[in-house]
Amino acid sequence: MEVLVTVNKNSVISEVDKRIFGSFIEHMGRAIYSGIYEPEHPSANQEGFRGDVIELVKELQVPVVRYPGGNFVSAYNWEDGIGPKEQRPTRLDLAWHSSESNQIGIHEFADWAETVGSDMMLAVNLGSRGLSDARNFLEYVNHPQGSYWSDLRRKNGREQPWGVKTWCLGNEMDGPWQIGQKTADEYGRIAYETAKAMRAFDRNLELVVCGSSSPDMPTFPEWEKTVLEHTYDAVDYISLHMYFKNHESNTARFLAQSLRMERYIDTVASTIDYVKAKKHSSKQIYISFDEWNVWYHSEEQDKKILSGQEGWPHAPAILEDVYNFEDALLVACLINSFIRKSDIVKIACLAQLVNVIAPIMTEEGGAAWRQTIFHPFKLASLHARGNALQLDIHSPCYAVEWASDVPYIDMSAVYNEEEKTLNLFIVNRHESESISLRTEFQQFQNLHVSAHQTLSGHDLQNCNSSQFPDRIRPDKGEALVIDNQQIEISVAPLSYHFIQLKE
Ligand code: AHR
Repeated sequence: MEVLVTVNKNSVISEVDKRIFGSFIEHMGRAIYSGIYEPEHPSANQEGFRGDVIELVKELQVPVVRYPGGNFVSAYNWEDGIGPKEQRPTRLDLAWHSSESNQIGIHEFADWAETVGSDMMLAVNLGSRGLSDARNFLEYVNHPQGSYWSDLRRKNGREQPWGVKTWCLGNEMDGPWQIGQKTADEYGRIAYETAKAMRAFDRNLELVVCGSSSPDMPTFPEWEKTVLEHTYDAVDYISLHMYFKNHESNTARFLAQSLRMERYIDTVASTIDYVKAKKHSSKQIYISFDEWNVWYHSEEQDKKILSGQEGWPHAPAILEDVYNFEDALLVACLINSFIRKSDIVKIACLAQLVNVIAPIMTEEGGAAWRQTIFHPFKLASLHARGNALQLDIHSPCYAVEWASDVPYIDMSAVYNEEEKTLNLFIVNRHESESISLRTEFQQFQNLHVSAHQTLSGHDLQNCNSSQFPDRIRPDKGEALVIDNQQIEISVAPLSYHFIQLKE
């Protein structure tokens, strides 16, 4: 099988917003406790944060982390997490049937985020609470001094405001599982009024309104239309969430799901256009895809805890999906989709970061390691910074229910002007055939190949573990030479390639 692709430096889709390599940490499971925070761990720093996890998160170069939820935020009192730790209340977390000790709150999380070099993207509770608590939280976090909440923050040990720019107006408010679920009109109104109040404090904030929890929701896409009609003038982004499963062990269908995600993005983009036109607005709303990942491996084992059969455990091991090689291939395809849609998707958060459906796993008191999905995420996060390029690609395709044209070769390209590098991210979805990929470069000066890394030749079910942390990790790819502005590469079945070329 042969595929031809042309990469032209001048065919720019958009500059990739580095925040598409964002992530998410929720107060749930072992994301916080024994994930990022474990004072008794041998690697813990003075604040009790695990040093081994800090190093792994830094390796991913995550520009922004969404916090504190997720479903958790919809019944969260942020004030429970401030002040002396010994006076903080233990609360029942209704979203995940757990106890929350509140030993980590906004001060501690902000310190951690600073240590790993990430900005915070904070969510306010529009489930059990509303506008008033949102504005108090904002004042606590962002006001310098001279007001009740800002002076309380200073009293609690943080002199300077954190200056958080991006705020989520609640979480998945369409979901029947959400504490304080709302209809689109109810949510649209409260989101608009909350946005108005937050903007009265600081007109330069970036506000994210909740879209549907997934494209499978019965109210999708009517929800988006109604919510945007209420909020268009007051917000900057609409959120999308999507998780991917492979219960039927069908690799071809599984790997084609990135096309379902692209269609979801297109539908929301069209809905934004519709409301924009209806309002005769010149303002552009963008997409914040602030939850995405594979999530299904742990479903069975989580049932007991989530149904309450175990009482109210603190930091139980839930949503601990152990990712295999197949998952890494889909994650690589999904990232390619975000790069191709970088004109409309400006934020995307891999859900989540540590232990809970995460690229990083830990053992309490023990090791921290990289899951399979860590690797395609890391390579793209480090190298897909610059202009996303529109490829002219002709790949043979296969069909699934939602798309008659799933290309075997899934590819994206990003040109980094500062470093003068062209970065190619390639997946072969074919289960049995190698594909000979001939890539022609146009408008580049004297390209040479500076890196080639692959994930290839693994059993689809292979995983990493504390015992075998490096079973799946990038290997050096074959040496490639450019001949007459072209390279030819043999892409093995079910493999991933990162190729960097330098001018
Ligand atoms: O990421 C896990 C959960 O998935 C989040 O809490 C919720 O927003 C989504 O349903």
